[in-house]
Amino acid sequence: MAHVLITGGAGFIGSHSCVVLLENGHDLLVLDNFSNSSPVALKRVQELTGRSLECVKGDLRDPALLQKLFADAKAAGAPIEAVIHFAGLKAVAESVADPLRYWDVNVGGSCALLASMDAHDCRTLVFSSTSTVYGESETFPLTETTPTNPIHPYAQTKRAVEQMLTALAQTGTWRVASLRYFNPVGAHPSGRIGEDPLGIPNNLFPFITQIAAGRMDKLRVFGNEYPTPDGTGIRDYLHVMDLAEAHAAAINHLLQSDAPLSLTVNLGTGKGLSVLDVVHGFEKATGITIPYEVVKRRPGDVPKLEACPKKAANVLGWRAKRSLADMCRDGWAWQSANPHGYRKAS
Ligand code: NAD
Ligand code: UFG
Repeated sequence: MAHVLITGGAGFIGSHSCVVLLENGHDLLVLDNFSNSSPVALKRVQELTGRSLECVKGDLRDPALLQKLFADAKAAGAPIEAVIHFAGLKAVAESVADPLRYWDVNVGGSCALLASMDAHDCRTLVFSSTSTVYGESETFPLTETTPTNPIHPYAQTKRAVEQMLTALAQTGTWRVASLRYFNPVGAHPSGRIGEDPLGIPNNLFPFITQIAAGRMDKLRVFGNEYPTPDGTGIRDYLHVMDLAEAHAAAINHLLQSDAPLSLTVNLGTGKGLSVLDVVHGFEKATGITIPYEVVKRRPGDVPKLEACPKKAANVLGWRAKRSLADMCRDGWAWQSANPHGYRKAS
């Protein structure tokens, strides 16, 4: 068991991962500036697990703060042994409109973090990367050796950090894992924590749950003339609790390795679903009708992303276990109990 720094731990994937990591016995220090999350999420993580975690409000790009976190932990006799780095910006359209901000937070922030880690002899890191680094591929499923082709600043910043990590690993002193998430959805089965986007959701699944909760009137399906069986875009949706479990597997794998390590691993189910598959799956799981209309394609969307999940199984011993019905049931349990997310919640 280790003392692990979790950047962005209050966010969607971070909060679910904190639950699993605490349940696995790790001690956690969360750094988050709450730019896209609420401290309530962390309060609920502690309620769910019956364990406490330490949380510091602050920015990843603040070297003095990072220095203090590492130094204080060492002085207290519990040095930070590893980092899981979730903090970052993730909205594709926003990254096209404001690329500098994405390079600053995603790449500049990672650079500051890695420099502090290095200075404090902490060289074990799990990084949140994305399936969008593959861009538009002709061959499926996507394996970790499929050439990358990041087509927007968001994906480019994630790819840049991956490259920074590969270079660090080549120095022979780091253990790093870039986890390429496909499309995480759903929520903890308790309905106490879940995805809480600010404003109008960019992503399909929270849009659907907000329609079900009466916050949106209908879904706009972005194009139905893609070269897919029903013409709508295909993605590899996975349950966020499966993804959280992958982080526990990855950090344990790195911590157990005696040798330097540089891993890149896809995290998906291996089974792509279309937009309409998700709509109908949600309707079946919840009994709620989701009205939709087909509109034009969203710029930057690719027809299909689908993982080859074999490396995750072979190297990490991890595979996604939960079904689309589980994702819909748990996502709806969260949204229906928290129609406005964490706002006004305690
Ligand atoms: P999220 O926005 O819910 O969580 C990110 C967290 O980082 C938030 O709590 C936010 O407040 C914090 N943060 C942002 N900038 C920060 C800064 N400068 N300093 C400190 N904290 C900061 O997003 P998420 O969905 O949980 O995603 C987590 C990571 O996984 C991100 O890096 C994202 O790019 C990546 N990712 C997400 C998805 C997805 O579909 N959700 C897919 C692939 C990759
Ligand atoms: N879609 C709609 N209507 C909507 C929202 C989405 O039809 O209102 C469609 C999209 O066109 C796409 C599919 O639903 O075909 C999934 O779209 P999302 O926005 O939910 O997910 P993306 O695959 O575009 O991107 C997401 C995150 C990225 C992350 C990526 C990982 O936004 O940050 O998953 O694969 F990197």
